[in-house]
Amino acid sequence: MNRTGATRPLRAAESQPDETAIKPFRRLWLALTLSSLGHWLSVPALIAVVGALTRDDDLPVQAQAIAGVLVLMVLPALLLGPPAVLLAGRLDRRITMVAVDGVRFALVVSVPLVDAVPWTLAVAFLVAFGTLLWFPVAAAVLPAVAGGEPEEGYEEARRSLLRGGYGSAPVAALLFVALALVGDAAFGVADRADLAVFAAAVVFLAAAATTFTARALSTATAGAAAGLGALSAPLKLLFQGQRRSGRTQPDGPPVAGAGAQAGGAHAAVSPASGPVRGLVLAGTVVALTAVAVFAVARLHARDLGGGDAGYGSILAGLTIGAAFGLFLGPRMLAPLSRRRLIGLAVIAAALALVPVALVQNLVVVVFLAAFLGLACGVAWAVGTRSAQDTARSFAYLRALALVTGLVAVAAVPPLAGLIGAHRLSLGGAVYDLGGPAAALLVVAVLALPAALVAFRRLDDRRGIPLLADVAAALRGYAYTPPELEESGPAVVRDRGVFIAFEGGEGAGKTTQARLAAIWLRDHGYDVVSTQEPGATKIGMRLRAMLLDQETTGLSARAETLLYAADRADHVANVIRPALERGAIVVSDRYVDSSLAYQGFGREQDVSSIARVNAWAIGGLLPDLTVLLEVPPETGLGRLASPADRIESEPHEFHERVREGFRALADADPDRYLIVDAGRPQAEITREIQYRIREILPDPIPAGTEDVTSTFPAIKDA
Ligand code: TYD
Repeated sequence: MNRTGATRPLRAAESQPDETAIKPFRRLWLALTLSSLGHWLSVPALIAVVGALTRDDDLPVQAQAIAGVLVLMVLPALLLGPPAVLLAGRLDRRITMVAVDGVRFALVVSVPLVDAVPWTLAVAFLVAFGTLLWFPVAAAVLPAVAGGEPEEGYEEARRSLLRGGYGSAPVAALLFVALALVGDAAFGVADRADLAVFAAAVVFLAAAATTFTARALSTATAGAAAGLGALSAPLKLLFQGQRRSGRTQPDGPPVAGAGAQAGGAHAAVSPASGPVRGLVLAGTVVALTAVAVFAVARLHARDLGGGDAGYGSILAGLTIGAAFGLFLGPRMLAPLSRRRLIGLAVIAAALALVPVALVQNLVVVVFLAAFLGLACGVAWAVGTRSAQDTARSFAYLRALALVTGLVAVAAVPPLAGLIGAHRLSLGGAVYDLGGPAAALLVVAVLALPAALVAFRRLDDRRGIPLLADVAAALRGYAYTPPELEESGPAVVRDRGVFIAFEGGEGAGKTTQARLAAIWLRDHGYDVVSTQEPGATKIGMRLRAMLLDQETTGLSARAETLLYAADRADHVANVIRPALERGAIVVSDRYVDSSLAYQGFGREQDVSSIARVNAWAIGGLLPDLTVLLEVPPETGLGRLASPADRIESEPHEFHERVREGFRALADADPDRYLIVDAGRPQAEITREIQYRIREILPDPIPAGTEDVTSTFPAIKDA
């Protein structure tokens, strides 16, 4: 309800520049997409080749050959990122791109001609190294071909490149299925795989031709390769612990991780807090489950009676599912807590492994793989966004996924070979459990507990029933515990407005509440400025007890009840009377402080505290709650006076309080304004004023904050 017609501030620019309209950019996009398609097609093609070459060997030998190809295709990204960036920075951009794909064409073509496992492995490594060179070069060219766009345009162009690069994976899988079907019909067992290999070679050639004919790319020298936030040393990043990224990259797995500046622009943050550990575990489960299926797909498909086409179908299911998950994840079940969604998605992924392993029908397995991919995609997309929220580095998660992926490709196929096929007889019925299926079950046994712990660590709505939460989200609204909704006679107000300011220590809410009250008074409103705890006579005595450092041994429940008592008195004697006479009440803290501090901070059951407080306040909730968000370390650093009893709590306590506030606000976005309190004060004040304006009983024309004296007083304060 913005009756003032004022434009909302701080809204991201709504029109994105259409980067594909720029011709050299379109060339670059096409070349990169083709080059990636070649890469993604080479993976199953080379695996099919080693599969064909080892077809007369035992399962362990076949499994090792497959693991070999996959390990060699992951290793470059893990070990050779920095040298690739350096090398790419020294070479002419266009020549590099042409040469990389030209050489890859020749390498891939040579595979069927040489027809030997060691050479195929060497080619796998070199093809992947080529991809590693390609991306930094493309990213270096980008600022120039995006036409010196403003930041927004560059970002959008970068994302579009990433979409092309990763989006070509499902296309490659489908192409592989088609080629395998033709191969099965037209060639003998030994040569079937060659068709896909030749196709990959042709795609590389097309990529080389695309860059060769794009002369604009060679003059494009803007941006040093090393400055791209390009591929970094993931291992180094992992060993150094988690780092805060200056520029996080929320959309999908980027090629250009933020870790290139690992030695410089990043400030180390503690990886210790529960939600961060939860996120780390969730990332591990995503990489482990998805990569395990990817790695044994060929052996598993064969057990299920499928050939290379069956193998390709599992890959297609997995990658198409993942693409949908990455796209839909952030939009999925919008009213549900994002953290709960990540937890649920990783549990779903781990659980899906069980039927993927046990169901003996290839078509069903393809759909199950798609479901698993979807769950992984959702968890990844939402998790990396939340990594950005908590200022934890995206690059860390990416590095973690790479290492987990490497372990999975190195271990799961050999495990399948080691376990081998078993015939189980269960009460007369016979069940054939193949080695790959058994290996997937082992992964499920590892992944499921990890997923459950991740869910628990991430859960920011503890005490709120999961089913009710999900059911409400499915119907499109956020679940509020009934205790907070019902109970007590809600006030009937015709004119009053109730605004609460909330936030952790030193977030600046007292200042902002005061400024808002002044601004409202200037506009002629009857404003009552108040705060918790201690707005009434009794409240002052309670406040003294609650905040005095001398108060020792106060139990968490007693503390909760004392805050609730203060609040009950506050509502009865200050807030309710003011609202009934039509005033605007601005309160520095209200019920959310108890949910955040006594609930999340003290790790008590949030719904019980909500119930007690609902009774204390008679169901009176603010019309708007302004949440000022600041990291505890910053907020506590701002405090001038000696710390009181609550402020002296350890860092983790304040971290939980912050997460708690955030969860409450995320669950009810219409009633909250979340403000990043790290920005300049005047900017914050303005943002708050815009939002308050929307709920005021009488219109205030935009811009009048400068000419307040011309406004008629509605009532003297
Ligand atoms: P106060 O001196 O009013 O400072 P602040 O500017 O942080 O509001 O201190 C209030 C303290 O009481 C603060 O540390 C938060 C805590 N508190 C709770 O723990 N639960 C509550 O319900 C309320 C209202 C406050």
